[in-house]
Amino acid sequence: MEQDLLKLQAEALARLTQAKAREEVDTLRIQYLGRKGFLAAIMKRLGELPKEERPRLGQVANQVKAAMEEAMAQAVTRIESIETAQAKERSAGLDLTLPGRRPKRGRLHPITQTFREVCDIFIRLGFEIVDGPEVELDYYNFEALNIPKDHPARDMQDTFYVSEDVVLRTHTSPMQVRVMEKTPPPVKIIAPGKVFRRDSDVTHTPMFHQVEGLMVGDGGSFGDLKGILTTFVHQMYGEDTAVRFRPSFFPFTEPSAEVDIQCVLCRGAGCRLCGQTGWLEILGSGMVHPALYGYVKNGYDTGAVTGFAFGMGVERIAMLKYGVDDIRSFYENDVRFLNQF
Ligand code: PHE
Repeated sequence: MEQDLLKLQAEALARLTQAKAREEVDTLRIQYLGRKGFLAAIMKRLGELPKEERPRLGQVANQVKAAMEEAMAQAVTRIESIETAQAKERSAGLDLTLPGRRPKRGRLHPITQTFREVCDIFIRLGFEIVDGPEVELDYYNFEALNIPKDHPARDMQDTFYVSEDVVLRTHTSPMQVRVMEKTPPPVKIIAPGKVFRRDSDVTHTPMFHQVEGLMVGDGGSFGDLKGILTTFVHQMYGEDTAVRFRPSFFPFTEPSAEVDIQCVLCRGAGCRLCGQTGWLEILGSGMVHPALYGYVKNGYDTGAVTGFAFGMGVERIAMLKYGVDDIRSFYENDVRFLNQF
């Protein structure tokens, strides 16, 4: 039996020196030292021996077991050091200090950015945002804005008609009467959104964006109009940008004024962008025409309440801010263009 034990030890040690992976050592451990392993099988025969021999053989068995455990630990250490050496070899020629590959991130469209910038400026000035339909009644788009059916001002805007009474709104101004119908004065709102006109060239697309503003009652004088729109220009284009208010005409404002800013390209000297005038038109505005209050009623007393309105094209604001000379580039979705913003 002692011979068997020593043979078992020799065999186990030999196999352990051959082991190439930790799993192999684990398997050997179970085979030799496990509850149903080879050593246990031999030990079962201990009872067959004469009593006086048993203690000595027990000792031998313990020594064999210790030797095997020791050999297993050594095998694991040997395998681990081989593995680290191999890992080192694999990473040789790999520069771990190189920066990682950055995932590509999406970004906001320049029109969305400008849209938000415009809205944020007016929100800081105390305006609230309202939303309204893009498919609009002729009534709100024209009639209630003091533009009757045969009015020549209808030719100012080439309209997409859905039916005789329904249009794609040509501007955000229909929101003026819509808001006043719902809310008695004072109101102080902006209405951002899409508008549509049958028009397409370097400065026009059939769909574009506007931000309408309306402030009625509780202030809403021409002085407020000038103050608020001047503040807007300064925040959008910088404090040193000159502003001028130029008399104009809209059927729904009286008096009306268009707002010009000093040319962003030549700073007023005169160039191709500003047609040598030194000025660029950026928005339309005026005092709400008293006729509109007549359409609204709901606490808007034509004789007592005053207010102002303004409307601007977001694409135009963005073109002037970023020096884009063809409005269509915003909608071609060429990422080389979009990535610049
Ligand atoms: N709705 C006008 C346009 O689209 C702009 C405007 C709005 C003018 C409000 C005056 C007051 O040109």
